[in-house]
Amino acid sequence: MDLWLLFLIHLGSCLVGLGTGSNNEEEEEEEKHEDTHPPGHKSHHWNYQDIHQWDSDYPHCGGPEQSPINVVTGAATFDSSLGPILLSGYNVPPEQTLTLENNGHTVVLDLPDSLLIIGGLSQTYRAAQLHFHWGSQSDPGSEHTVNGQRFPGEMHVVHYCAEYNSVSEAATHPGGLAVLAVFIQEGEEENPTFQQLLPFLQNITEEGERTEIPGFDIRGLLPQRLDRYYRYNGSLTTPPCYQTVNWTLFNQTVFLSQEQMELLEDTVHADHDHILQNNFRAPQSLNGRKVLSSFSSKVGGRRLPGAAPNPAAASPAPDDSAQNHSSQGTGESVDHSMSTGDMLAIIFGVLFCVTAIAFFVYVRRTRSRSKRLGSENKANVIYKAATAEDNLA
Ligand SMILES: *[C@@H]1O[C@H](CO)[C@@H](O)[C@H](O)[C@H]1NC(C)=O
Ligand SMILES: *[C@@H]1O[C@H](CO)[C@@H](O)[C@H](O)[C@H]1NC(C)=O
Ligand SMILES: *[C@@H]1O[C@H](CO)[C@@H](O)[C@H](O)[C@H]1NC(C)=O
Ligand SMILES: *[C@@H]1O[C@H](CO)[C@@H](O)[C@H](O)[C@H]1NC(C)=O
Ligand SMILES: *[C@@H]1O[C@H](CO)[C@@H](O)[C@H](O)[C@H]1NC(C)=O
Repeated sequence: MDLWLLFLIHLGSCLVGLGTGSNNEEEEEEEKHEDTHPPGHKSHHWNYQDIHQWDSDYPHCGGPEQSPINVVTGAATFDSSLGPILLSGYNVPPEQTLTLENNGHTVVLDLPDSLLIIGGLSQTYRAAQLHFHWGSQSDPGSEHTVNGQRFPGEMHVVHYCAEYNSVSEAATHPGGLAVLAVFIQEGEEENPTFQQLLPFLQNITEEGERTEIPGFDIRGLLPQRLDRYYRYNGSLTTPPCYQTVNWTLFNQTVFLSQEQMELLEDTVHADHDHILQNNFRAPQSLNGRKVLSSFSSKVGGRRLPGAAPNPAAASPAPDDSAQNHSSQGTGESVDHSMSTGDMLAIIFGVLFCVTAIAFFVYVRRTRSRSKRLGSENKANVIYKAATAEDNLA
């Protein structure tokens, strides 16, 4: 073998990749193949220990409209035009399996793009994935805080504007992403919908592992009331921190049993066998941004605070006749961030793949045998992009 020739091919293909933005189909396919192989050789160039250095590698992280934030409820501006969040297609049948992955930063459930937000935002948004942020048994780990209070956990359901072809494309355009954020608290009872998801964490304890789980009613992971929320313009909460997220933070919270909470906090590992905990970013400066609220806490007397440790989930919710989870959501704001870290991972992955592909092509040619790469379809592209997002958020 002529090693120098190989080296030059690698170098050349890297340069070509940089110059063209790596649009080569083969490269993308190779990248996907890489990505579908389990244990994580995906190297992410950021982590929660280096959080104060994110902006040196990812300049957007130092921008003026970053997420998360602390919501001061008394300072939020009531906006009567913010209608209930309306969802469609959220009830996924059990025959349709969903991929759950430990990406080393969080656990990510890929969502079909048939799940939609059809109300509460000015455009239609397609679901990409959902993921979680948590602390540890001794400390809460939500990203957003409310009046300075941090909640035990936070779920982000990431969507992208339907006018774009993929979440990765949308992620670089203002308003391209909409994230629904749900605060997670601990309660007395087991949450039956979360029970369709959490036990599978035991199958993906190592970074890069993934498993297929039966579809279920994703709507059930959200609070009953989707009409009460805060809205603001922000960013992905992980590198590359693109400031393209239209955030919706629900005022009502969801509750997990103590056992379920511990499953979330203590099961999955990041690299080097560390338990993955405290995967949240601290609140960022508002820098003059406005936080809107879809509801007025003054009119009509004081409502049960969503954060009340009470069985909020059990209290009848007038606006949410929600037993019909299938294609019915209420609530209006959908905004939030996508994972910018994923985007970076994709970029690096593509560059890596280019060199890898060049290598494989060379080897194949020298063996005068061409192997056909499996054809990847669009769904896979979206799937991959979603995976990348998870890394970010
Ligand atoms: C977020 O959505 C609201 C509609 O609720 C819209 O008015 C606003 O312009 C959106 N923000 C961005 C950055 O697109
Ligand atoms: C998950 O792990 C359990 C044991 O921990 C095993 O019984 C089950 O078959 C696994 N499920 C999948 C989908 O791998
Ligand atoms: C978010 O940004 C959009 C576009 O710049 C703007 O129209 C909208 O008013 C902003 N929303 C808030 C809550 O500031
Ligand atoms: C929900 O809204 C009430 C009333 O403004 C507020 O007291 C409470 O802190 C809010 N909770 C969350 C989680 O937003
Ligand atoms: C739910 O939907 C079904 C059929 O789509 C309907 O028969 C039922 O009345 C609905 N239930 C509620 C609570 O809206």
